[in-house]
Amino acid sequence: MLIADETIQSIYLLISECFKMNRKLDRQVSVLGVNFAMNNTADLCHLGIAHYFPSLSDRIAEECLERYNIAVEYGETPSGAESYESPLEIIDSMYESVVDFQTMFMGVIDIAYKNKDIQVFTDLLDLLKDYNNIVEQVILIKDKIHAYDDMQSFDAHIKEHFWIL
Ligand SMILES: [Fe+2]
Repeated sequence: MLIADETIQSIYLLISECFKMNRKLDRQVSVLGVNFAMNNTADLCHLGIAHYFPSLSDRIAEECLERYNIAVEYGETPSGAESYESPLEIIDSMYESVVDFQTMFMGVIDIAYKNKDIQVFTDLLDLLKDYNNIVEQVILIKDKIHAYDDMQSFDAHIKEHFWIL
C-alpha cells in the first residue's frame, strides 16, 4: 500500500465534507438571492465559494488518491433545506462552516504527516494554501456585513469593494 489506510479514510471523509459544504452553501446563496434579494452577494458566493468545494474534492481525489491507483469512496450528501432569518445569519453560518472545514482539512494533513505519507502531505498542503483564500474572503464578508446597516447597500458594493477572490 502506497498510502496508509488511516490517511485514505480521512481523505474520503474530507471529500465527503466538500459535497456537504457545497450543498449547505448552495442553499445559503439560494436563500440570499431569493428571500433577501441580495443577488450580487448570492452570485459571487455561489460561483466563488459554493462551487469551490466540488472542484476541490476533484483535485484532492486526483492528486492524493487516484494518482496512486486508489478509487474514491463517496459518503452520503445530506439534504439542504435550512431556514435563515437574515443575511447576517447566513454569513455567520458560512463563516463557521468554512472555518470548521479548514480545521478538518488541517486534521487530515496532520494524519498524512503522522503516517509519513509525505507525497500526499505535500499536495494537501498546496491545496490548503489555496483554500485559505476562501477563509480570508469569508472573514472579510462577515466583518463588512456586520459593519453595514443597509443590506441592499452591502449587496451593491460587494463586487467592487470587498470581493478579493
Ligand atoms: Fe450551485
